[in-house]
Amino acid sequence: KEEAVILTPKPSPKPRINSARVFGVRPGSPVLYTIAASGQRPLWFSAENLPEGLTLNRETGQITGKLAKRGEHKITMVATNDLGEARKELRLVVGDTIALTPPMGWNSWNCWACAVDDKKIRDAADAMIKSGLINHGYQYVNIDDCWMVRLNSDDPVVGGPRRDEAGRLLTNKRFPDMKALTDYIHAKGLKAGIYTSPGPFTCAGFAGAYQHEAHDAKQFADWGFDLLKYDWCSYGDVVQGKQDLDTLKKPYILMGGILKKQDRDILLNLCQYGMGDVWKWGAEVGGQSWRTAGDLGFELDRIFEVALKNAEHRDYSRPGSWNDPDYLQIGYIGDASTGGHPKPCPITPSEQYAFMSLWCLMASPLFYSGDMGRLDEFTLNVLCNPEVIDVNQDALGQCAKVLPLGDEQFAMVKDLEDGSRAVGLFNRGELATDVAVKWSDLKLPEPKRVRDLWRHKDLDGAVTQFSAKLPRHAGVLLRLWAK
Ligand code: GAL
Repeated sequence: KEEAVILTPKPSPKPRINSARVFGVRPGSPVLYTIAASGQRPLWFSAENLPEGLTLNRETGQITGKLAKRGEHKITMVATNDLGEARKELRLVVGDTIALTPPMGWNSWNCWACAVDDKKIRDAADAMIKSGLINHGYQYVNIDDCWMVRLNSDDPVVGGPRRDEAGRLLTNKRFPDMKALTDYIHAKGLKAGIYTSPGPFTCAGFAGAYQHEAHDAKQFADWGFDLLKYDWCSYGDVVQGKQDLDTLKKPYILMGGILKKQDRDILLNLCQYGMGDVWKWGAEVGGQSWRTAGDLGFELDRIFEVALKNAEHRDYSRPGSWNDPDYLQIGYIGDASTGGHPKPCPITPSEQYAFMSLWCLMASPLFYSGDMGRLDEFTLNVLCNPEVIDVNQDALGQCAKVLPLGDEQFAMVKDLEDGSRAVGLFNRGELATDVAVKWSDLKLPEPKRVRDLWRHKDLDGAVTQFSAKLPRHAGVLLRLWAK
């Protein structure tokens, strides 16, 4: 982790607003927008041009309320502390498109697998505040599989009837009161996510939504959830393995339509591992994001391969429509096969920086899935670099274009809203190597400013080209402003 220390820029004590510039909400849906800001505490928030119907909590930065009318509001967010003031404009769009920037948060799966319970979710929410992740835009706290009743189980904790007499889905005993849990999460300015399958049971063998879709979606809305991950799993048996487009789309059209009718915005994350080129139709069936492949799982040596495959679908990345290459797995991560028991991730610091850089260049949803209770300084540093996250949360929503530089080296170029570009240079090879590029080779105009985003440093002498020695499986992330 030596290398990490070099890369660590000290967080500035001056206020900085880290929230994205755009936010979408459907008319009449409850708004919960938390202004994310870093800097020395205490910090106070204010907002100019806040539309009627919304109120701001000056201490927490939470904007709540409802807006019935479609349209756009330009709000100036202000964060102040003893050292100064930061301002940023927020374009709040009341309309049909939600998730105008990639969703950010945490998911329980790669930490706890089926060992998840109410307390672990509350602890994750607490940690999201305490660690400062919330100040960088992380907001969703998502329960993955295993919260419902396990099929054919005599275990009194997870077994039992799947539904009550009215057909309402029941939780297992590890989740005694879902409404109380989402209330707890929302009170912190965070959002809550849940998981199920369109099949009769989930991938881990718990009760799914098959033939109860409307009931279950209503239940999720009543409980107060803000996101649903809908995982194909046993639906494959329902359709006897058929994989034609109509069959693949059907359960998602059904759930997408039902979710839109709920009285709150619920993001839909399609999880069907990329079948039928889901990126081509995920948005049309009501999804905001879709996994483009199987689980990244524990095979973290596949980060580059998975990223390059995911980036092939760049044309489908735009506000409200995101390709999902799976979770960020750094820090302490668990494994489904061991039922949680998180241990240190097996990848090097360079690989972790590359992981985050790639996910940001691709405008991927940023869901951390490691142990929130054991976020060390290094892990936080990888997850919470504001200039790196700006690349992910950019309002254009573009996924970077890949440009090969050699057998094992490649560049990624992403256009950003202000006319600048994010440029990643990567070495996926097993040996350290010199990477050199002329901006003109990447078809980029001569820059007036080049900045290293991990180090927060402007680079002199990079006017026409850039070169660096990159360790094995490493990258650099730059931002270029044209003359
Ligand atoms: C898989 C899914 C994982 C996790 C798991 C739960 O199908 O890809 O992300 O949700 O199911 O059983």
